[in-house]
Amino acid sequence: MKIIAMNGSPRKNWNTAALLNKVLEGAASQGAATELINLYDLQYKGCVSCFACKRKGGEHGKCAMKDDLTPILENLRKADAIVFGSPIYYSNITSGMVALLERFLFSNAIYSSEIPTVYPRKIPSAFIYAMNATEDQMDKLGYKEKFRSYENYITRTLGKPIELLYCCNTYQFTDYDKYESAIFSETAKAKQKAEQFPIDCQKAFDMGVQLVKNA
Ligand SMILES: Cc1cc2nc3c(=O)[nH]c(=O)nc-3n(C[C@H](O)[C@H](O)[C@H](O)COP(=O)(O)O)c2cc1C
Repeated sequence: MKIIAMNGSPRKNWNTAALLNKVLEGAASQGAATELINLYDLQYKGCVSCFACKRKGGEHGKCAMKDDLTPILENLRKADAIVFGSPIYYSNITSGMVALLERFLFSNAIYSSEIPTVYPRKIPSAFIYAMNATEDQMDKLGYKEKFRSYENYITRTLGKPIELLYCCNTYQFTDYDKYESAIFSETAKAKQKAEQFPIDCQKAFDMGVQLVKNA
């Protein structure tokens, strides 16, 4: 039983990474082997439309591009559960996460009317979002609806339901005094970090436990 976490934040020790590590801790508590991949350590591009993965008689499920993502994509096909985590940049997941999903989802997709996926098994997944927006702002900006598109493609590929976690009003800097950040209240951010973030971490841990049970 192996669960893989994909960190779509360039920051390896901040909100997204901390939550992903909690998911893995939860999964490990149930006996799963775990791995965290920091996407921003890798050199890779998004899909280049070569369509090698769609060729008749070709190797469906395999991305033909050769770069740092090649072994990761192979390992993702062997995973028993996958958790994706991304900060929100300009109301979207990060470009590193988008590029990964293009490669992973498209290489496992098939233009067939009967089955949409060549992913070898049905496995559960999860997506964790970290953002500056408060929960109210997230709702007003329609973020949940915006994010649904990739979630739908992930479930279509992996075959089992996706669990979601939204971490709002994140603490963004080590020291707010050092940055021009008048639109944010450091006091409110610190309160969120002290009170809500541990709750989000617990939810992430529980998510890891659940993923193993659903796998
Ligand atoms: C380039 C950039 C764009 C951002 N755009 C948004 C945004 O549109 N909405 C939002 O809520 N937060 C936005 N943020 C804030 C991040 O989502 C937030 O700081 C998040 O916690 C970062 O994740 P990390 O702590 O795991 O690195 C942006 C941050 C950066 C660097």
